[in-house]
Amino acid sequence: MILDVDTGVDDACALMVAALHPGLDLKAVTCVGGNAPLDDVVRNTLTVLGLLEVRDVPVGVGAARPLLEEPVDARHVHGSDGMADLGLPAPLLEPDGRTAVEVLRDTVATTADAGTPPTLLPLAPMTNIALFARLHPEVFARLGQVVFMGGGAEISNATAAAEFNVFHDPEAAAIVLDACATHEVPVTMYGLDVFYAPRVSDAQAERLRGIDTAAAQLAAALVSFHARRFDADGATIGDAGAVTMLVCPKAVRTERLPVRVELTGSFTRGRTIVDRRDWTGDLAHDPHGLAPAQVDVALEADGPLLVDTWL
Ligand code: BDR
Ligand code: CA
Repeated sequence: MILDVDTGVDDACALMVAALHPGLDLKAVTCVGGNAPLDDVVRNTLTVLGLLEVRDVPVGVGAARPLLEEPVDARHVHGSDGMADLGLPAPLLEPDGRTAVEVLRDTVATTADAGTPPTLLPLAPMTNIALFARLHPEVFARLGQVVFMGGGAEISNATAAAEFNVFHDPEAAAIVLDACATHEVPVTMYGLDVFYAPRVSDAQAERLRGIDTAAAQLAAALVSFHARRFDADGATIGDAGAVTMLVCPKAVRTERLPVRVELTGSFTRGRTIVDRRDWTGDLAHDPHGLAPAQVDVALEADGPLLVDTWL
């Protein structure tokens, strides 16, 4: 699989499970500006992979800003360096010489050639993925599936209507959903309806702290940061839940539903419009004309099972 990240406390938790779980095979990582400015994201990503001693996974540097708008970061959530201000050492690893889009193009082509169309997991604003879909549609079409963290059927966070990743670059999200529909690439939305369900308890965090490996120590520090700042009821693992779902699909209930991205509303820009009516099969009656993407929307999650698997 390939991860697209804006590391980010919970992206770091996602990188850890992607790199270390024996059931997962991380082929490449691409970086995009989001939670923090792009330079910080690249540094944080390389620091995490370095601590995990993952040296053979290319890290591609991608878009610093959304397609249309100025970037708005989330350092108030992730700390001034985007990584919980843990004072981590500068990375020894270097990014790949190719751009994120080139890394995506090459990795998807090589992996698909080898007979295993890869899973692409955008855990960040989807600017890199939209550029990839537009520049190399014939390679995008070779993806096995897209599983993205973003949006929500009911819940929002960046605004009253929209989730951060989609809100940050709504055009990109719309392009990616459209490309999935056009090229018949299955797409799953791991959105805010399930995002907050997996929570690491204090006892689990304590257990992590007692394990003498770089990965466990980093995980414990990230989880404690989240717990201290936001979560009275255990620390959420955020993006890591979307990766963990791949090795534990029974933990998440999805429903295939039409999804569009709101691009124009004054107060609703960036909202994912999930159509849960039960009479929408006949698109001839759709007043919007264009067929929406059919998306496997995650609606319920067994949080404790996801956390056990992540740990
Ligand atoms: C998403 O926004 C970011 O802050 C997190 O990393 C996650 O990808 C949640 O809305
Ligand atoms: Ca993220």
